[in-house]
Amino acid sequence: MYQNLSDKVVILGIETSCDETAVALVKDGKKILGQLIYSQVRLHRRFGGVVPEIASRSHLEVLPSLFRELLHRSKMELNEISAVAVTTGPGLVGSLLVGTNFANAISYALKKPVLQINHIKAHIYANFLERPEIIKKGPHVALVVSGGHTLLFFVKGVEEYEFLGGTLDDACGEAFDKVAISLGLAYPGGPFIEQAARGGNPDSIHFPRVLLGPNSLDFSFSGLKTSVIRLYKEKKKKFRISDVASAFQEAVVDTLFQKTLRAVRLKKARSILLSGGVAANERLRHHFRIMSRKYKLFFYSPKKLLCLDNAAMVAGLGYHHYLRRDFAPLSLEVEPNMKYGKNQA
Ligand code: KG4
Ligand code: ZN
Repeated sequence: MYQNLSDKVVILGIETSCDETAVALVKDGKKILGQLIYSQVRLHRRFGGVVPEIASRSHLEVLPSLFRELLHRSKMELNEISAVAVTTGPGLVGSLLVGTNFANAISYALKKPVLQINHIKAHIYANFLERPEIIKKGPHVALVVSGGHTLLFFVKGVEEYEFLGGTLDDACGEAFDKVAISLGLAYPGGPFIEQAARGGNPDSIHFPRVLLGPNSLDFSFSGLKTSVIRLYKEKKKKFRISDVASAFQEAVVDTLFQKTLRAVRLKKARSILLSGGVAANERLRHHFRIMSRKYKLFFYSPKKLLCLDNAAMVAGLGYHHYLRRDFAPLSLEVEPNMKYGKNQA
């Protein structure tokens, strides 16, 4: 039923945890043979955030044809797929169910195993996907910043993680999204704040950097979000949107690096890895690059497409599950609140 482990392994990745429907074919955990991503943002924009019911319905409509198109474009046959890797959590329950049921159906039809993938671990794996040699630059501190999570991990191997800290309230991307709405910008807020910030002066306003005491590795963005929203509402005429956006972005970027550096020192790490949707932010990437050089640390962040939700990272991590024959049972279920490591609060 399963192929010889010395053969080339092609994993089909499926990602439907939030508002991107994504499929990918990845060879040996590192070579992307093809990938397609359908973003639902236009469907959710007028609601100012993701509507779970609309998300799951759209996944259902899009996923089968996206998969067919992937096979067609990458000139692959169904029987060349070694296994199906699917995100089963954390994420929106309805959306996860669509991807997981689709994976189960393909697995049943092809008689190939299903590999159960944690979305956050896949975001960390994105760092090693096209550059497997990066793993040797460790030990690493990995920061995952997305719409739902702001997490720090100590990473020693491809799947050797220790959870160090996370957000106590809003996730970093969530703060971008909420601030953007209150400034009259569109959803998802991150790219629009980044764009608005380009013409602004980051020093025109000083927003708080919430560090939660000298030793904490947790994050809190709700205070910053509230102070930006309040200031802008009260003194709208006094500030340009570009200055507010730029000062807010600077406060986030500065806080994220300070916390990451704290983790690096605590764990005596040699390298910083940055992934997740917010890592698509140029100002964040630039600051991390410059500061890592200053502190003589190795720094890497995957290309933007691989920072945002995608299925290549899911298939890539799936390869490692495949090698150790960590196959999901037929009774596979989704886990919307799936944990991502030891010591998670
Ligand atoms: O990882 P991701 O695609 O989905 C989740 O797993 O949540 O992250 C989406 C988040 C959104 O909050 C979005 O506003 C943010 O990433 N984002 C950005 C940028 N591009 C996307 N935030 C800041 N700057 C960007 N350029
Ligand atoms: Zn994500």
